[in-house]
Amino acid sequence: MSTENRRITVPQFAALKAAGRKITMLTAYDFAMAKLIDAAGIEGILVGDSMSMVVQGHENTLPVTLDEMIYHAEMVGRAVQHALVVVDMPFPSFHLGKYKAIENAGRILKEARCQAVKLEGGVEQAEVIEALSSSGIPVMAHVGLRPQNVHCLGGYSVQRDRENLLADAKAAESSGAFAIVLECIPAEIAREITQTLAIPTIGIGAGVDCDGQILVMHDLLGLTPGRTPRHVKVYADLKTQVIGAVSQYRDEVREGTFPDDRQTFH
Ligand code: KIV
Repeated sequence: MSTENRRITVPQFAALKAAGRKITMLTAYDFAMAKLIDAAGIEGILVGDSMSMVVQGHENTLPVTLDEMIYHAEMVGRAVQHALVVVDMPFPSFHLGKYKAIENAGRILKEARCQAVKLEGGVEQAEVIEALSSSGIPVMAHVGLRPQNVHCLGGYSVQRDRENLLADAKAAESSGAFAIVLECIPAEIAREITQTLAIPTIGIGAGVDCDGQILVMHDLLGLTPGRTPRHVKVYADLKTQVIGAVSQYRDEVREGTFPDDRQTFH
């Protein structure tokens, strides 16, 4: 059986809401990390365009290209046996009309062994979500703070317009999205959206009442340089551990204590 055939399917993922099961998601961008996340039993892995910032070192998510997303999604696709694999459509791969969006999302599904795409937008992307869904390309929508909109928003701030948020979420669902990410919105609005929609809501900075949660893996592991956003919980301090391990290696090489007999062939 191929790797993909053992994975949680899109319908199984969506059905977790009705089953009352909380859904866990994390981002991954390479084989090794995707394997570890999968082994821990996370239900969904997102190859996020956050890669532009946490892997490539750009200041926002706009520079990452479709080819780069596919290149990293291939690595994740090779690793994952159990989780649903979702790949972000980068800016502006779905902004040039529905046919171009089908072509680009189709490339992601064909080349990256993933099962779904994610795209930022609600009302204004309804036509694209519908075109992709009806072409057999499952779509996870993303409303609230949409990082690809950073220049229009003037920064990354909590989105509080209840009417717009509800309209976006409903438009995503009625266009065929199977799930929806809610990013940085007040918990009360996220709860209302979660109660209104039949599809699962996956929150990031959207409170505890969403059907599931997602975090950027680098944030969770304490690998992100600089300040971490308020909605992040840092579960490990790998930054300190990595610097500690590398410094110890540096010192042992300089002192002549690495390699010792155990790492030496005679
Ligand atoms: O790109 C990403 O990692 C995301 C998540 C933060 C939801 O979109």
